[in-house]
Amino acid sequence: MAKPQEILAEAGALIEKAQGEQELEALRIRYLGKKGELTAILRSMGQLSPEERKTLGQEANAVRAQIEQLLEERKGSAQAAARAQQFEKERIDVTEPGREIKAGVTHPITQTFDEICRIFMSMGYSITEGPEVETVFNNFDALNAAPTHPSRDLTDTFYITEDTLLRTQTSPVQVRTLQASKPPIKVISPGRVFRPDTPDATHSPVFHQVEGLLVDEGVTMADLKGTLETWAKLMFGSQTQTNFRPHFFPFTEPSAEMDVSCFLCGGTDPGCRVCRGGGWIEILGCGMVHPNVLKVGGLDTERYTGFAFGLGVERIAMLKHGIDDIRLFYENDMRFIRQFA
Ligand code: DAH
Repeated sequence: MAKPQEILAEAGALIEKAQGEQELEALRIRYLGKKGELTAILRSMGQLSPEERKTLGQEANAVRAQIEQLLEERKGSAQAAARAQQFEKERIDVTEPGREIKAGVTHPITQTFDEICRIFMSMGYSITEGPEVETVFNNFDALNAAPTHPSRDLTDTFYITEDTLLRTQTSPVQVRTLQASKPPIKVISPGRVFRPDTPDATHSPVFHQVEGLLVDEGVTMADLKGTLETWAKLMFGSQTQTNFRPHFFPFTEPSAEMDVSCFLCGGTDPGCRVCRGGGWIEILGCGMVHPNVLKVGGLDTERYTGFAFGLGVERIAMLKHGIDDIRLFYENDMRFIRQFA
């Protein structure tokens, strides 16, 4: 029969090599269990002299205690190792830069809004917005539209009640701005407008405009031309030329439409898809603010003058990107929208 010290040496070596709690439990049973080797030694002591029994008994009990301690220690270190391994596996580097979530693409209308507005903001304009549901007064009367003006017709405007409507233009923001603030006034106003048009390649009942208004002492048509020419060169390229054609709008006098030289062919291609060979593209309406409009804001029209302009966002986006059907903007077909990423 093995001596307690031999058992201790053997058990110690095995405990040290053991992996995990299961193996350690098996070793505990093997050495300390009821049928274990140390128990066997204690049971066999009947034949020994009392003296020998005492020594061996003490020795066996000491070895039992040592094996118990070794098992306990090994169990602790096995647990610590397992935990360290788990930590290593679950480790995250909180300093790592985040991954970009590609949630979508800015809609081409929004991109065009941004481009137009950024240029005017760089010239010192601030942005103001007006409501889509407007009063008939702000949309027509205050803008000097005659009671018989054709755009007031029930077939040309979405009326909500007799005196409210879905605004047909962003120009009523001029009225709101004049009523709410004092010159110098220098604002642009991007927004959605509504007209009961049957949708086709160039018409939509909902579309977008950017309105501009500048009012101060001594503002002239030269300021209007200089401002819009600067904007056109930044928007369409530095080689861009402008041309102002006389026009009529009730809220400006004189009024004009501004054309820009074709940014695609510069007027050299008779078959150009953008200018159709004419060399010029109509871009916006503008003019000197009519005194009747300034009066709505309570301004002294001898002292103050101003200019205004309004442009269609879809039209500009279509020209710039070669889009041939306005309805593409509203269908939310990601195959179309992703092309503007
Ligand atoms: N409101 C006009 C339209 O919808 C566009 C416009 C023309 C706005 C001339 C202006 C302007 O401010 O001066 O057709």
